[in-house]
Amino acid sequence: ARVVVLASGTGSLLRSLIDATHTDGYPARIVAVGVDRECAAEGHAEAAGIPHVRVPLREHPDRGAWDRALTDAVAAHEPDLVVSAGFMKILGPVFLDRFGGRIVNTHPALLPAFPGAHAVPDALAYGVKVTGSTVHLVDAGIDTGPILAQEPVPVLDDDDEATLHERIKVVERRLLADVVAAVATRGVVSDGRKAVIPSDRT
Ligand code: GRF
Repeated sequence: ARVVVLASGTGSLLRSLIDATHTDGYPARIVAVGVDRECAAEGHAEAAGIPHVRVPLREHPDRGAWDRALTDAVAAHEPDLVVSAGFMKILGPVFLDRFGGRIVNTHPALLPAFPGAHAVPDALAYGVKVTGSTVHLVDAGIDTGPILAQEPVPVLDDDDEATLHERIKVVERRLLADVVAAVATRGVVSDGRKAVIPSDRT
């Protein structure tokens, strides 16, 4: 399967997905990386020889124009699957129309708890003893799409945002690579609320 990865940050999820796709028999390859700002993810793409494209919101007259530009940039690489790995912008209606049902996002909390861009500090501030990683399909809401996989991560008494986020990311990296492989091989069936990756019967 052809995968386009969207990222905005340090790109450690992208880096680990690149590594996963280089393992023997992995059923997907990353054909392009899209970013919305100058970020370390671009360096990871470059190091791996993967084309990358930068589509910053502020270089467009409005969100609609940005949405169309990002959609065109990604569509040019004809992805079967789009992976949002730390992409910090809400995808627009044109993008969702084009790739809906085929966009996978990772979120550093057990949804529906702690949606949004501050999931890790929010979980710490609430005082939960367990949080985790969620891999889900993207819909028009903020972290509301059908859930594909989840895994818990303990919160330790002396955690700060950095230590907790890193413990979650260790899980996210593995869970994302597993889900992308499963979806690439077996697809995903969703009724818009729930999503199921058909089980491997081989
Ligand atoms: C991940 O925790 C992801 O779930 C969140 O942003 C982080 C990206 O990490 N939305 P990185 O930039 O790949 O290290």
